[in-house]
Amino acid sequence: MKIEQLIRATRTCRRFHQEQAISKETLCQLIDLARLAGSAKNLQPLKYLAINDTKKNEAIFSHLGWAGYLPEWPGPAEGERPAAYIICLLDSRLAAEAACDLGIASQNILLGATARGLAGCRIASVAPKLHHQLNLADHLKILLVIALGVPKEKVCIEEAGPDSDIRYWHTPNHTHHVPKRRLADIIIEG
Ligand SMILES: Cc1cc2nc3c(=O)[nH]c(=O)nc-3n(C[C@H](O)[C@H](O)[C@H](O)COP(=O)(O)O)c2cc1C
Repeated sequence: MKIEQLIRATRTCRRFHQEQAISKETLCQLIDLARLAGSAKNLQPLKYLAINDTKKNEAIFSHLGWAGYLPEWPGPAEGERPAAYIICLLDSRLAAEAACDLGIASQNILLGATARGLAGCRIASVAPKLHHQLNLADHLKILLVIALGVPKEKVCIEEAGPDSDIRYWHTPNHTHHVPKRRLADIIIEG
């Protein structure tokens, strides 16, 4: 896939073929792509947890907030939940924050997932209790959970006008529509 196509195809997905497992090897390959990402001062303070175990998946799922713009939708139903997770952690011994690093690294993971026929969802809405649940050391802070699986929903990019709503929506056929601002609306003429 050409880079432009890969970027366009790398959309947030929230419904998966839960029964289609993702191997630890694949998760490690995706983390390896994150490892190669740019890093402020090259500190590389991000660490990762790779999880594909049914019991652990269930435990993680209960701590996640899904699709804030769809309050009537409680998140993916049993059978459509993620098959695996990559949890992005900040090693606070190495840096105090890593917001930019996290964006780059997580996008590398999602691009790599798309290239492998997978899809994912970055989830920042994570209950603080997950830290304890995962038995993490104090210096490791959960920044983001990336849910992964074989996609079960279609995602369409829609054009958002300058004043239009940027909230995504579902249609009854379970297609997810995600508005993006127009190029002309985001380039400021100097
Ligand atoms: C930093 C970040 C945090 C996000 N957190 C959540 C979240 O907690 N729950 C969720 O369902 N989606 C979350 N998303 C997914 C966004 O809703 C999604 O990226 C947005 O709707 C645009 O869709 P797209 O990724 O297909 O372009 C997050 C995305 C980013 C970049």
